[in-house]
Amino acid sequence: MSRVLTGIQSSGKPHLGNLLGAILPAIELANAQSAPAFLFIADLHALTTIRDPAQLQENTYAVAATWLACGLDPERHVFFRQSDVPEVTELTWYLGCLAPYPMLANAHSFKEKAERLAEVSAGLFTYPVLMAADILLYQADLVPVGKDQKQHLEMTRDLAGAFNRTYGETFKLPEPVFREEVMVLPGIDGRKMSKSYGNTLDVLGDLETLHKRVKRIVTDPTPVEAPKDPQKCIVFQLYSVVAPPEAVEEMRQRYLAGGYGYGQAKEALFEALKTRFAAQREAYLHWSQDRVALEKVLQQGAAKARAEAQKTLSEVRRKVGVRPVAVSFS
Ligand code: TRP
Repeated sequence: MSRVLTGIQSSGKPHLGNLLGAILPAIELANAQSAPAFLFIADLHALTTIRDPAQLQENTYAVAATWLACGLDPERHVFFRQSDVPEVTELTWYLGCLAPYPMLANAHSFKEKAERLAEVSAGLFTYPVLMAADILLYQADLVPVGKDQKQHLEMTRDLAGAFNRTYGETFKLPEPVFREEVMVLPGIDGRKMSKSYGNTLDVLGDLETLHKRVKRIVTDPTPVEAPKDPQKCIVFQLYSVVAPPEAVEEMRQRYLAGGYGYGQAKEALFEALKTRFAAQREAYLHWSQDRVALEKVLQQGAAKARAEAQKTLSEVRRKVGVRPVAVSFS
């Protein structure tokens, strides 16, 4: 019985790269366990970069609708919004009091952000402590993440160990499950597909826009008649991750034979994207138009998460020497 847990950065509507690289594999890992998984939208983490409250909420709903559309079952798993469980910020404090300054100051992700950003907040600095609290609060066993989160997971284990040594055995040490980047999914300009490059494909959105984006995929000037190298073509690379294997093999032969143009390949790619994500697109439309339903799902998830969080936190409070929270003063 392994408890899977992961946090989802809510930096905007997920794209094809997020779906194939993170969301679908995490749901698969969650469904492979008999215990419910804990999956949450990390809106408190998003506050380190987003200052617009409407934007913060917009992103949360877009992410929630995407996970639900991708098949996450909120009855089976605990799907919630990080900020709906305020216990996490309290645990962040206790863990922060054990976090060595140099560990946080030397973290790659902090140094990288601190160099790039004009303003460096304490929130950015303690980002990994909040993440450790996210994981430890729910006593997670397995944490699926990208390789970029490796150090954050190491810090989580360090903080759990420090707490256990100081106050006695309390936290489980979580195991990271790194996503195998089989290949870096290219965006429409050939660089890694990423929101920050503006080169993404939104496969759950409107089809006309998707069609236009597919047509804009960068290709070389090889003429239609000439044979082409499939491996060097972004259209083929994308097709090969969304189309059935036989169809991919067929396209490969067409590239090699010549007489097959990039325009035709793009049409085939568009059709493949349309088919592959048809059910998800419909479900996304449904969820994104019903905020009341989304809120209901998230709040039911939060109630389940909070019960678990309060169990851990009351033990933590007792161990560090803080009195239980007074229920009333009567
Ligand atoms: N920092 C993670 C990311 O950028 C998101 C995240 C927040 C997370 N809390 C977490 C991931 C807890 C796993 C567990 O992807």
